[in-house]
Parts: sequence; structure tokens; C-alpha cells
Amino acid sequence: NLKMNEHGDGSSLTSFHCRAKGASPGFKVAILGAAGGIGQPLSMLMKINPLVSVLHLYDVVNTPGVTSDISHMDTAAVVRGFLGQNQLEDALTGMDLVIIPAGVPRKPGMTRDDLFNINAGIVKTLCEAIAKRCPKAIVNVISNPVNSTVPIAAEVFKRAGTYDPKRLLGVTMLDVVRANTFVAEVLGLDPRDVDVPVVGGHAGITILPLLSQVKPHSSFTTKEIEYLTDRIQNGGTEVVEAKAGAGSATLSMAYAAVKFADACLRALKGEADVIQCAYVDSQVTELPFFASKVRLGRDGVVEFLPLGPLSDYERASLEKAKKELATSVEKGVAFIRK
Ligand code: NAI
Repeated sequence: NLKMNEHGDGSSLTSFHCRAKGASPGFKVAILGAAGGIGQPLSMLMKINPLVSVLHLYDVVNTPGVTSDISHMDTAAVVRGFLGQNQLEDALTGMDLVIIPAGVPRKPGMTRDDLFNINAGIVKTLCEAIAKRCPKAIVNVISNPVNSTVPIAAEVFKRAGTYDPKRLLGVTMLDVVRANTFVAEVLGLDPRDVDVPVVGGHAGITILPLLSQVKPHSSFTTKEIEYLTDRIQNGGTEVVEAKAGAGSATLSMAYAAVKFADACLRALKGEADVIQCAYVDSQVTELPFFASKVRLGRDGVVEFLPLGPLSDYERASLEKAKKELATSVEKGVAFIRK
């Protein structure tokens, strides 16, 4: 393993001592899988976030280069790199927020569930270290299949005796980002002015955009509803096919992950009324995990917003989504309990 210097950037030019600067107020954030397709732009964008004072970049390959590169950006966050499993626990010590985009992405023809065997083990290892070194951190899980990796993380934390359901969040923000974009296109609006709740989970038919609750209030024809629902559910596959074997969404995902992480940090700081969709340990339906709008606070999830009135189309879709979600949750739980 490459030994990092005191700045964690692997450079050898520190022949004099830099003047120590006072720690800037802010949060300590770790990104696990930081050298990947999502990890790199996500790390770059988190380096720009003024709420971040310390940014730890961890991966099993290539972190020295990514860390060196990002550490030259003239923003306040101090960046440190960590390479390989024997540096994992150091990467996590004292973190307030841990973002996990580690794992393999889809190739054309694959479902998110096809990633289960590899990514389940990766998420398990990472969460075991989180339980040891930063059990109070907010954890944002991006690694797919999110519908199963979040239950896996929960089981790992339960075993370690550190599970706090409020602090574990599966990132479904990309579904919301896509929904806002596609709906804005149909309505001829600026996507920044559109808010589409997306509930359920993060795979195929479990992704359920609530088009009857779009803000600003809008009505859609049956054709529009079918087109939009299908495009939002299959937005990921659209990118996988366009990339033709070179991976899945990385840039829009990094954008979505930062939007979500920023919401978590603003809530940690005490900002009121931070509401986002996330896949969490939930009481909104009879399922143990479910994505819906939640209010975020200093302790993570502080309130579940009700699903609200659903259209007949949405009620029928929800029943189908729930069946698939239940199976995905069980699969994750079984992976740890086996
Ligand atoms: P990638 O293959 O480009 O990057 C993954 C990174 O994880 C690599 O740098 C790899 O070295 C690292 N990694 C592998 N094993 C690791 C371990 N044990 N510890 C730490 N790092 C490890 O993949 P990409 O495109 O960045 O996707 C990452 C994950 O995010 C995939 O599972 C993908 O399916 C998922 N994803 C989730 C989305 C969501 O909406 N939640 C959207 C898009 C992708």
C-alpha cells in the first residue's frame, strides 16, 4: 500500500512544514469507493461543499491519484486518501457522514439484482468497519441493489449492536432527479421548479413516481403517465445501454448523491424543513424498508411524511412494487443471517 503523506495526497514535495490552519467548522465526510465512476465526481463535488471540513477518500485502488488531484482544489475541505482494506478503519474514524458508492455497476442486459453477489459482500465489509469506527455517522448507501444493500447494512449494524434506523439511508435521489427532469420536459417547465415524489424502492417497478402529487399541481393524460412512469423506472437502463458496457449512470448519480448528502448535512447542522425521498427503515407501509419522503434532522430521519392520496394507477403499481420489494429485503437479510 502506498504511504500517504500528512496531506494524504501522496506527493513528495513537503520538504518544509506548512503553517497549520485552524480547523474550519464543518462536517467530516468519508466516501467509500471514491476512485470509481461515481466516486470521482462525487468526491470532487463534495470538496466544493462548504459544509464539509474534512473529506476522506477510500477505495481499494487508485485513491492516491484521485486524492492528489482533488486536494489541489482551492476550497476549504481538507482531503485525505486511504487505500486498501487495512486503511479502511482509519478512513472512517470520527466521520459524521459516510457515503458508499463502492461496488460493480450494471452492464447491458443486467438487472440491479444481478449485482447482488459481489456488492452484498462489499457493503457488509464496509458496514462492519463503520460500526467499529463511526457508529453514530449518517450512512448514505448508493451501491446496488439498494433494495437489498440497505437491509444488509441494517443487519450488520444490528449484529454489532449499533443499529440506529434513523441514520441509515438508501439513496434514491437519482430517481427523483430523473423524475423532475422528465416531468419538466413534458410540462415545458424549468426542472428546478418541479417536485416529483418517488416512493417504493430503487429498481424497475419498485420505483414509483407519484405523478398525481407533482408540484406545481399538474394533470397528465393516461399516455403521459405511462410514458413518464416507464421512463423514470428505466432511466438507469437508458444510461447503461447508451454506455454500452462502460458502466451505468455516474455523473447524474454523483450530482444526485451530492444533492442528498448536502440535505443530510444541512439537517445535521440544524436547518429545519429538510425533506427528501430516501429508502429507509420505515413505518409508512407494512414493509420493513420503503422509500418515501422523510424529514431529516440532527439525528437523521426524524419524521415520515404520509404517502398522501394515490391515484388508482398508483395504488395498483404500489401493490406490485411491494411484492418485489419484500423479496429484495428478505434476500438482503438472508445474506447476513445465513
Ligand atoms: P465503478 O466500478 O466505476 O466504481 C466502483 C468503485 O468501487 C471502484 O473504484 C472500485 O475499486 C470500488 N470498490 C470495489 N470494491 C470495493 C471495496 N471492497 N471497498 C471500497 N471500494 C471498492 O462503479 P460505479 O459506476 O461508480 O457504481 C458504483 C455502484 O453504484 C454500483 O453498485 C452501481 O450499481 C451503483 N449505482 C447506484 C445508483 C443509485 O441510484 N443508487 C445509480 C448508479 C449506480
